[in-house]
Amino acid sequence: MAESGSIPINRIHFQMMAQNNLQILVFKDIEEISDWMIQKWLNLAQKTFQEKDQFIVAISGGKTPIPMYQKISHSDLPLSWDKTHFFLVDERFIPFDNPDSNFGMIKAHLFNQIPIPDENIHPIYIEKAVQLSAKRYEADINIFFNLRMKGLPRFDLILLGIGEDGHTASLFPKDDTLLEKQHLTRAVTSKRLKHPRITITLQVINHAKNIFFLATGEKKAKVIKDILRKRNPQFPASLVRPENGEITLLLDKQSASLI
Ligand code: 6PG
Repeated sequence: MAESGSIPINRIHFQMMAQNNLQILVFKDIEEISDWMIQKWLNLAQKTFQEKDQFIVAISGGKTPIPMYQKISHSDLPLSWDKTHFFLVDERFIPFDNPDSNFGMIKAHLFNQIPIPDENIHPIYIEKAVQLSAKRYEADINIFFNLRMKGLPRFDLILLGIGEDGHTASLFPKDDTLLEKQHLTRAVTSKRLKHPRITITLQVINHAKNIFFLATGEKKAKVIKDILRKRNPQFPASLVRPENGEITLLLDKQSASLI
């Protein structure tokens, strides 16, 4: 079952297929996950360039991916940044220079470190109201994918995190955002959040070609166990199941300790 090619399979601690298109890979630590992910990114990008000239990704904020972004940005591999387009899966409704800004974090650790044209970066802009930010982001996605307000964008790669409560992107347990079927994006204004947020919707995530979840550390062990048990809106990450794509859970030994 191990993958071939240039991916360093010997560093995978263990590998299993949970369901048809859900693969779970467990590594020693985030360093090894990152090495694997960079190779996978390259393989997927190269495969994509055989069909079209853009590799379109949506990536997450949070703390977990920071070492991965640092590693990707210093990679010597030919990652073709000029043909890669970056979107964000979610954003907090705060200026980009606020330490909690996802765009601010990703810019510092990735965009500022790689030779990427500005027009390939698609932030979630902070408008006068969070609903306007969501609306603008939806319009930006529609225009970029040439959707003419119909259908869903098909991202080549989406990188997601998981919160200890089972949220992913800014899709939180019991929030009505989870039910959104009309829009590609939503404003999330729940009072329990420190900042209102903007997120892509579940249907957009599930329409992607390749979805990767990244979760490390023992604090994530329980939620990983829960999301693997069954689809349950209490754990929005468990509702991520691509209709016609692959999903891979990238874990370290700590986050995988209860599965
Ligand atoms: C964000 C995210 C969010 C994140 C999880 C995990 O804006 O915070 O996109 O979904 O991925 O909360 O966050 P950590 O990586 O910090 O644990």
